[in-house]
Amino acid sequence: MTDQTVPGAPGSEPPPLEEPETPRGPLPPKPDQSAPATRTATGAPVEGAEKSLPRAQQGEWLTTAGGVRLRETDHSLKAGPRGPTLLQDHHLREKITHFDHERIPERVVHARGAGAHGVFVGYGTAESVCAAGFLKKDVETPTFVRFSTVLGSRGSADTVRDTRGFATKFYTEEGVFDLVGNNIPVFFIQDGIKFPDVIHAGKPHPDREIPQAQSAHDTFWDFVSLHSEAQHHTIWNMSDRGIPRSYRTMEGFGVHTFRLVNEAGETALVKFHWKPKLGVHGQVWEEAQITAGMDPDFHRRDLADAIESGAYPEWELGIQVFPDTPDQAFAGIDLLDPTKIVPEELAPVQPIGKMVLNRNPTNFFAETEQVAFHVGHLVPGIDVTDDALMQTRLFSYVDTQLTRLGGPNFEQLPINRTHAPVNDMLRDGFHQHAVHAGVAPYHPNSLDGGNPFPVADGGGDPVSALADLPVVVSEGPKVRAHEAQAPISFDDHHTQVRQFYRSLTPIEQEHVIEAYTFELNKCYEQAIKERQLQHLVEIDPTLGQRVAEGLGLPCPEPQLDLGDPDPSPALAMVGQEWPPDGRMLGIVVTEATPSDDVRALREAVFGAGMVPLLITPTGGMLPDGTPGQRTFATARSVEFDALLLGAGLGEAATHPQVALLVQECFRHAKVIGAWGDGAEAITAAGCDATAPGVLSVSGATELLDGVLGLLTRHRVWERMLP
Ligand code: HEM
Repeated sequence: MTDQTVPGAPGSEPPPLEEPETPRGPLPPKPDQSAPATRTATGAPVEGAEKSLPRAQQGEWLTTAGGVRLRETDHSLKAGPRGPTLLQDHHLREKITHFDHERIPERVVHARGAGAHGVFVGYGTAESVCAAGFLKKDVETPTFVRFSTVLGSRGSADTVRDTRGFATKFYTEEGVFDLVGNNIPVFFIQDGIKFPDVIHAGKPHPDREIPQAQSAHDTFWDFVSLHSEAQHHTIWNMSDRGIPRSYRTMEGFGVHTFRLVNEAGETALVKFHWKPKLGVHGQVWEEAQITAGMDPDFHRRDLADAIESGAYPEWELGIQVFPDTPDQAFAGIDLLDPTKIVPEELAPVQPIGKMVLNRNPTNFFAETEQVAFHVGHLVPGIDVTDDALMQTRLFSYVDTQLTRLGGPNFEQLPINRTHAPVNDMLRDGFHQHAVHAGVAPYHPNSLDGGNPFPVADGGGDPVSALADLPVVVSEGPKVRAHEAQAPISFDDHHTQVRQFYRSLTPIEQEHVIEAYTFELNKCYEQAIKERQLQHLVEIDPTLGQRVAEGLGLPCPEPQLDLGDPDPSPALAMVGQEWPPDGRMLGIVVTEATPSDDVRALREAVFGAGMVPLLITPTGGMLPDGTPGQRTFATARSVEFDALLLGAGLGEAATHPQVALLVQECFRHAKVIGAWGDGAEAITAAGCDATAPGVLSVSGATELLDGVLGLLTRHRVWERMLP
């Protein structure tokens, strides 16, 4: 934690009680905020950049968009005080016209998201396989990351069951590199031509436009039960990966196999992985549902608050490396198949750098909404493979952004500007910010002295010339099919799904069973449930049997002979210990709770890198002036990773809202601790005060030690097992 204040205040200074009357300069930005680096529309650094940040609202006087000072903005220009408004009121029309056009189309997928600025530092360990400059040792590269859900619209809730996007823009010195990944390492489809189908199936039904941001409906399960290659991605969604605790506790995956090229022009195939410092953690399903109502902004708030309070989210970037053999396969797994993983036990993830997210955006729209990622943004040393899903993506992103961002010049928006000089021959178009000099935007030319020269013609930087690779493009008849090479994993849609399920711990398997049962029970059509049950019984007979029981249907017999794939322990989320940085601790206190206890506990919680949120019966301050952050009416268990109950609760120990807090935390396997007579609230809520993960001690700070030890495992899973 950077200082001992609870994050989330709206501005850098508290506002005065009265409306301000004296003009002053703009308030400074909040210390946690940053804006896109100041570059010209063509990527050049700007002289005196610190003074010319691309921030609007720079001064004390209100102006028109043209910079003309305005006398007032609260009344339209009228023919007499009671007369009609005049057409000549340009300020009114400018203000309303701009407002009328404030919304731009939301993303066709991944509409709901949150972003942050960061920095990536290379370890230098990738040098033997990759020539990219930003991966070299200690090279620092600014980044911007946008996390997202896939299905929901822009205003939908964060904690729905869905895949999460994890898209990173690296502003490298050699140009922009985008790693546009997800928190799930496989995809629903093997060929991009199916993308509209899977998205149409997952989006709300076209007649009533419900349900929002859900997969628990007939069209989704109709598609995935008919399209068996979707089974692998679907089981990841049904696991706790589909309901992350936080963006900070998600892995990220490039999904496709990429081709890396080193300085000598040698190639290797790789898969990219982001590994979070805090481990991989989920919510439990009931918690996710309550959160969607209580705080639909839960994940974006968590990300922003963590950064503001200095608990900077961190990931290591790693690669699995495979030889670039003609069959593009490894250990019998087709590397051009994005519905398959390569288990980490077969090809370990080797760390090549670290990313820290350390600044919040200054303006959501300008940065998070206008950022445009594209899988074709590659730098020398990194290339795509012929995976048919990737091939379609290469076309799709620019195509959609032309509409979403209104023309071909969106690369010049501040958040998208490269930090490398741009010398393209692209001209004109809507919203052109660059003032192109010269008269010869064509190649070859003599009028502009032949500039700009392609590197190969000009004898320039050999690394930039890596476009020619010693790779043979597949030859063959013109077909709409994928022909499996020697390994036939491409056509096997169930074995890795079984491997995933069997690699989970018993509690995670239980959650998968509950998720399938919930989702399929939300479907109306019996045929769809029966069809999906057949897949489940192939994946694992017990899984099929348990879900069939939950659906009240007979369990079908398996038809496939899948064998027993080795489990991959790396696929489980439960079982290790992780730092509890940035966790939220709810602390129930009253006026009678000793002030020294509260002060010491808050300091200790901040000192441990976590955030204490005081929950008091009503709003206001405690007797020593410490502010409460939540009241009994506004607090709900889902916000907290652990709940502490203070001494001196008195009648509050039996308050129904306190009982609800305790019961939900108990049911969701969260750590519960009490000091002094705070323990009475546990028994008053009807919970077992001797259950695992329920602590009761006499001193407040002593309690924290016990809580910290338990939080490293995220939850007290023992309490959840039947
Ligand atoms: C052929 C398959 C796919 C197509 C056609 C497709 C298309 C799209 C489109 C049109 C967008 C909206 C972009 C925008 O408006 O800026 C998008 C966003 C996104 N896609 Fe895909 N996608 C595909 C597969 C994937 C896969 C396999 C992944 C993960 C590896 C993925 C990850 C993302 C992410 C993270 C975003 C959000 C980017 C952001 O935050 O702005 N997509 N995709």
